[in-house]
Amino acid sequence: MNWFKPLSIVLGIVALSMVVAAFYWRQHGDPATGRLLAQNNCGVCHDLTDKKVNERGPYLWGIVGRPAGAAVGFHYSDAFIQRVQSHELHWTEQSLEQLLDDPTRFMPNIAMTQRKSQHALAFEGMQLRDNRRDLIAFLKTLR
Ligand code: HEC
Repeated sequence: MNWFKPLSIVLGIVALSMVVAAFYWRQHGDPATGRLLAQNNCGVCHDLTDKKVNERGPYLWGIVGRPAGAAVGFHYSDAFIQRVQSHELHWTEQSLEQLLDDPTRFMPNIAMTQRKSQHALAFEGMQLRDNRRDLIAFLKTLR
């Protein structure tokens, strides 16, 4: 029996779908990788669940599409409020990309980029574009 031909067709289809999936992730980001990145890079200051708990930073549930400064009960810094009042800001994929790429330039002096005596960590930005894209793909699932 010649089983080689159907087998090679199946393998060809599998290989093709892997290429398509890889291409899709390259364009749209991989939320599974983004989840790990978020847990490691944001979870120390931000709640990522639908419990919407404010920690050192505001909860990020529903962040994509939310106006900046809208986490209920979070006490935003003066620098943050001034920045949002001077030009209106909504969190979109694009504005999140700018924040994550260079937080100090996009929002100068906000609490996210400052070290504090009670909480010595500060966020310096995320260098790799692929990581930012995967992370934002994950943030979109927080709804
Ligand atoms: C060192 C702690 C810290 C880390 C790490 C951190 N953040 Fe923040 N983040 C904050 C604080 C504090 C604020 C509030 C800023 C202010 O009030 O000045 C904030 C604000 C934000 C906001 C604005 C939210 C709103 O309600 O408008 C977004 C979006 C955000 N962070 C996303 C992230 C993401 C995504 C990561 C991970 C890549 C991250 N942050 C990592 C502390 C942190």
